[in-house]
Amino acid sequence: MREVVLQAPGDFAEWRAAARGLLAGGVAPEDVSWRGGDEGASLFGIESAAAPVGAVALPRELLEIAERVICYRDAEVPARLYRIVWRALRDRQLLARTTDADVDWLRKADKAIRRDVHKMHAFVRFRRLGEAAGRESFAAWFEPTHRILRLTAPFFQRRFYGMDWAILTPDARAIWHDEALTYGPGGTKDEVPGSDIVEDQWRTYYGAIFNPARVKIDAMRAEMPKKYWRNLPEAQDIAPLLAGAEARVERMREAAVSLANPRSDKWRSRVQDQQTLTDEIETLAELGQALDRCTRCPLSCNATQAVAGEGPAAARIMLVGEQPGDREDLEGKPFVGPAGQVLNDVLNEAGLDRRRLFLTNAVKHFKFEPRGKRRLHQNPTTAEIDICRWWLDKERAFVQPELIVTLGASALRGVTGKSASIGSMRGQVHELAGGTKLIATIHPSFLLRLPDRERAANERAMFVADLARARELAA
Ligand code: URA
Repeated sequence: MREVVLQAPGDFAEWRAAARGLLAGGVAPEDVSWRGGDEGASLFGIESAAAPVGAVALPRELLEIAERVICYRDAEVPARLYRIVWRALRDRQLLARTTDADVDWLRKADKAIRRDVHKMHAFVRFRRLGEAAGRESFAAWFEPTHRILRLTAPFFQRRFYGMDWAILTPDARAIWHDEALTYGPGGTKDEVPGSDIVEDQWRTYYGAIFNPARVKIDAMRAEMPKKYWRNLPEAQDIAPLLAGAEARVERMREAAVSLANPRSDKWRSRVQDQQTLTDEIETLAELGQALDRCTRCPLSCNATQAVAGEGPAAARIMLVGEQPGDREDLEGKPFVGPAGQVLNDVLNEAGLDRRRLFLTNAVKHFKFEPRGKRRLHQNPTTAEIDICRWWLDKERAFVQPELIVTLGASALRGVTGKSASIGSMRGQVHELAGGTKLIATIHPSFLLRLPDRERAANERAMFVADLARARELAA
């Protein structure tokens, strides 16, 4: 029996080094015992965790999942992952075997981690500590279900680049100071001081975006489980806001813009890593990571994050929009805001399943103008669209759709490189270099802007017809 001691549970690099060493030595999963560094004396001779002689190439998709799943809070995780990797090296189709118990466990654990990451992105609340040398510093306490701090810290680094901050969790802490991200030991809630001005900002923000017409208590509980409430300053306002909800419904129209976050109102400019391009990008996931570092144009300075395309790499239809909007910028996904709602409805009517499409944008960063606490959408310039085509072309090369549907004039420019009116292109099926078909239609937000109901209904019907044509063509 070989025994491997992992000093830092949840540390992917440590597990990977150990797994590579064992794989290179041909050590079968049943002959390995995995132990945490704090689990007492060993019965066997202890292996060093790092023994990567003759490194074994692990399947890429599995490595990406393993990097997340290693954070799953279960002592069996290192052993289970090793068994799966061992099997995957002998069975290249393993991950596709959805009825396999290991694969089922892996997918479920991965889903739990993604959900936990999503919650942490949404529910971390900073408190102000003070200011030194012109930089403000903040701290937050958070209790994630799993050991996901390293998975989430880069998001906060991008989002709160211009300030110093620490996020403390029971397992570890992340510190962003002098533009360097470091990790340290776990902490306690007492280390983070009590309520302050940033909490008030969150409460004001929550009050402002609270949408009484959409209140669904069960959905709210599912999205914001009670365990997070005690650390959320705005949670104490939920009951009073609900009590006044009915009166506000009449006065309210859906807000399409929001305050990004309390600190980024400065619309700071960032110095980012220079991106390393092309050769290193071999998958859509890597493309997304590289895109995150994009500084090809100044739009990257103010947006919260770049929004990569989403959907199956084997999609037959690619839908191209203009650029992420306010919600997309915050969530990091395309078409999740008001225009996305319209698009979803129209896709349904056209008989298209959004999950089978690849949705992306001509421009990957949100362009806006700050107006008070709001961020108002601005159209990208031709130059911005042309600069961003590099990314769109990469996505096209990976997905290789049979058909591209452009939504609006910016998307048309992004795909064709030429400025043409939708009217002149609509109603025909065009062919792009390489044989990809193209259908040009309107952008869903156009429907949101039309004051005349009859006109809106006509435009909508034509939009549905364009998408139904796309479905037929790709069938
Ligand atoms: N509008 C777009 O063009 N794309 C999005 O992702 C959202 C709104």
